[in-house]
Amino acid sequence: MDVKKMAFELKEKLIEMRRHLHTIPEVAFEEVETSSFVAEKLSKLGIEVKTGIAKTGVVGVLKGSGEKTIALRADMDALPITEENDVDYKSKYDGKMHACGHDAHMSMLLCAATILSKNKARLKGNVKFIFQPSEESLPGGAKKMIEEGVLDNPKVDAVFGFHCDPTIPTGKIGFKAGALMAFTSEFTILLKGKGGHAAVPEKSIDPIVMASDVIQELQKIPSRWINPLEPVVVTISSIHGGTTFNIIPEEIELKGTVRLLNMDLVEKATGIIGTILKGITTIYGGKYSFVFVKGYPVLKNDEAFTTFMSKIIEELFGEENAIKIDNPLMGGEDFAYFLEKVPGTFLRLGTGNRKKDSDYLWHHPRFNIDEDALPIGTALFVKCAVEYLSGG
Ligand code: NI
Repeated sequence: MDVKKMAFELKEKLIEMRRHLHTIPEVAFEEVETSSFVAEKLSKLGIEVKTGIAKTGVVGVLKGSGEKTIALRADMDALPITEENDVDYKSKYDGKMHACGHDAHMSMLLCAATILSKNKARLKGNVKFIFQPSEESLPGGAKKMIEEGVLDNPKVDAVFGFHCDPTIPTGKIGFKAGALMAFTSEFTILLKGKGGHAAVPEKSIDPIVMASDVIQELQKIPSRWINPLEPVVVTISSIHGGTTFNIIPEEIELKGTVRLLNMDLVEKATGIIGTILKGITTIYGGKYSFVFVKGYPVLKNDEAFTTFMSKIIEELFGEENAIKIDNPLMGGEDFAYFLEKVPGTFLRLGTGNRKKDSDYLWHHPRFNIDEDALPIGTALFVKCAVEYLSGG
């Protein structure tokens, strides 16, 4: 079975589907048009389809001759961004855009389903195609799909997925065993003071000065509060408060995120933020509230499965295109939930090509992918399923 050839023969189809999906971006848990497109394509291939899982999720099951089941996953949601690309497949919907490549993920998985369904007789087990809603918004679609039984019936033994990566040149694929992506979180801090005249600050409790101290101290968490050898990011990404030149406001709201790679430090980090807030507001005589929402867990790739996939990359595309990633990324990905339940791996598919302007980073209004990468991802999905079910 020449998987690479079959995938490259579908290049036109891949581009057509990806561009269609690109024109109809829908945000988290609103992927109605998208999921009906996906479900229809899968049904036409004779694949058993279930819709409405985790609201807008779609699952297809292709049954082969064997007990083992591998799941292949693509995410479906777009982002609330206005597209700035001047292309004829530009987003039809104002303020919504596939700026993270999920349109490409879906077209690659649909074309992998096309190849696998045509070669069903060769499959020594089942393939589950998971089209997941809401990767971009907490609590994410993966967790909900698992709660609704996506890994059961038939029971999934391994899971595989990947993400477009504009920092890796097209043609190359990144792999890494162990932690690849970080724990994510969202927090909101409200600092309450006492408003007053800007010229009489000693009669006020100035929440802006408190906020500046809080922001400074939070930046010391990596290294002064937590061992500098532990990767930790604390970012304040939003500050709101105040109205004009001569008024000290009553309160200031801060929003931000904590990212880390050691789940044992989650409680510690939230405790430290609480201590900092208590300390600084006590000094000034102010008050605070602190709401911390845990996001996705650390994404941990299975050692053996990652080795298995790195060999497949080498076999299909040559050793020079299998890129061993040294350091984890501090971004998050809810594929982590699947990997908590079953072994598998999450790869990084190179889509960066300066000549084609496809090297803008994710979530940029000019994000685009190099469509030459589409057959590559398709081949990875197909080869992974066929080889894994044949005993790897
Ligand atoms: Ni994404």
